[in-house]
Amino acid sequence: MEMLEIADKTHDESRQGEAYAPVQQETAVYQRHFYIESYGCAMNFADSEVVASILNKEGYGATRLPDEADLILLNTCSIREKAEQTVRNRLGEFRTLKRKKPSMLVGVLGCMAERLKAKLLEEEKLVDIVVGPDAYRSLPALITEAETGQKAVNVLLSREETYGDISPIRLDESGVCSFVSIMRGCNNMCSFCVVPFTRGRERSRDAHSIVAEATELFERGYREVTLLGQNVDSYYWIDEKNDETVTFAKLLEKVALVSPLLRVRFSTSHPKDITDEVLFTIARYDNICNYIHLPVQSGSNRILQLMNRTYTREWYLAKVARIREILPGCGISTDVIAGFCTETEEDHQQTLSLMDACEYDLAYMYFYSERPGTLAERRYKDDVPEEVKKRRLQEIIDLHRKQSLKSMQKDVGKTFTVLIEGNSKKSDAHWYGRTDHNKVAIFPKSNNGLQKGDYVQVTINSCTAATLLGEQLVNP
Ligand code: SAM
Ligand code: SF4
Ligand code: F3S
Repeated sequence: MEMLEIADKTHDESRQGEAYAPVQQETAVYQRHFYIESYGCAMNFADSEVVASILNKEGYGATRLPDEADLILLNTCSIREKAEQTVRNRLGEFRTLKRKKPSMLVGVLGCMAERLKAKLLEEEKLVDIVVGPDAYRSLPALITEAETGQKAVNVLLSREETYGDISPIRLDESGVCSFVSIMRGCNNMCSFCVVPFTRGRERSRDAHSIVAEATELFERGYREVTLLGQNVDSYYWIDEKNDETVTFAKLLEKVALVSPLLRVRFSTSHPKDITDEVLFTIARYDNICNYIHLPVQSGSNRILQLMNRTYTREWYLAKVARIREILPGCGISTDVIAGFCTETEEDHQQTLSLMDACEYDLAYMYFYSERPGTLAERRYKDDVPEEVKKRRLQEIIDLHRKQSLKSMQKDVGKTFTVLIEGNSKKSDAHWYGRTDHNKVAIFPKSNNGLQKGDYVQVTINSCTAATLLGEQLVNP
């Protein structure tokens, strides 16, 4: 039985373009409706929930049916060229709908809006509204402007905006796991990356509002929160009232203390910033999950330097060793880029050997896509031919497949606490959940009153490269 389910929704590119509407929302009470699709990273998905909240206050209800919408929004990603192409294709598909219903407004939000600004209006004629990630509060005013037939744009980046006071409307249907944004922007200047240009300067959200959001989620039945930021380890917030400096380790602890029944995850950690204090905090609290996403990008020191990642292969390997020392059995995942500017076969071999050494449980693997305006685009030549990039990427993927299967096989015969998130995508007769280490576990339902949001002991009998298959331990 081949069952493939996704473990890490913070990086799950297959979620590109998912459309959401709150499950329990009474659509009939709203006069006007918006339809939103999100692309890219979890931060965009979390932002769509902030946008939903802003629009809701203006009397807009969410719909899952584009035909029913007065406003279509695409929350976009610019990380690779393909991500932008997907959005352009999708906009093309909305053309017929717009022709049928000319009063319907089309808005582009997120990173592509920020990168292209008003140029997007010239390139994509059906777009009425362009809004960058820091300008969502102005959406109601922009809609009013667009309703008069004018094109409306706000792509101002902010040094303060965190939307900390806005209570997001949860658009995901699980009701068990949720994202909580803890910071915005990024101050790192990885040479390949467009994020510092689309999301602006790094800023941390008020810790009280983060804890309040996690508490509210727990009270509503959620059992897992993932704290989100491009570089969570540089979270830093000063509580002037209580004269307290809140680092990421302290924030983790505060959220963990909401309830021992609330699982806490986080993403993404930069290898240069993750501290022992964070690792010891994870060790101290059972409900902080033993899983760290630690993107390496390349195994070659020369390439890491060109990428401006500010660590070496040796530093990275020492960090992984430290994680395994303080948190034995901790799940570790990574991001890898194949074929960055000037990458030689030898550099590529270094990446493969580093992956061999790290034995990642999960990896997100890409070939380099040059992004306009980035340091790499300005300084280096994108000189690795596409077929070479693709071949190297395939070698990386093949190696990772072997490693992930090995990592899964190690768990066969063991028993894990699994948080039930819902039905397995492949069969209603099975539950879908994840272990603390972020591995997907599928097991048959039995008539014992279990429901999503429950914790259960599952003994693993077999596995695929992506999924653990087991059964509930009776009388643990
Ligand atoms: N902030 C995180 C970090 O520092 O690793 C993740 C940033 S990005 C949203 C997610 C991943 O996309 C990166 O880790 C990198 O592997 C990949 N990525 C970013 N820019 C890319 C590019 N120009 N071409 C290919 N992959 C890219
Ligand atoms: Fe991009 Fe680097 Fe910032 Fe991650 S840390 S968002 S890869 S610039
Ligand atoms: Fe995320 Fe894509 Fe923007 S990965 S930060 S939505 S460029």
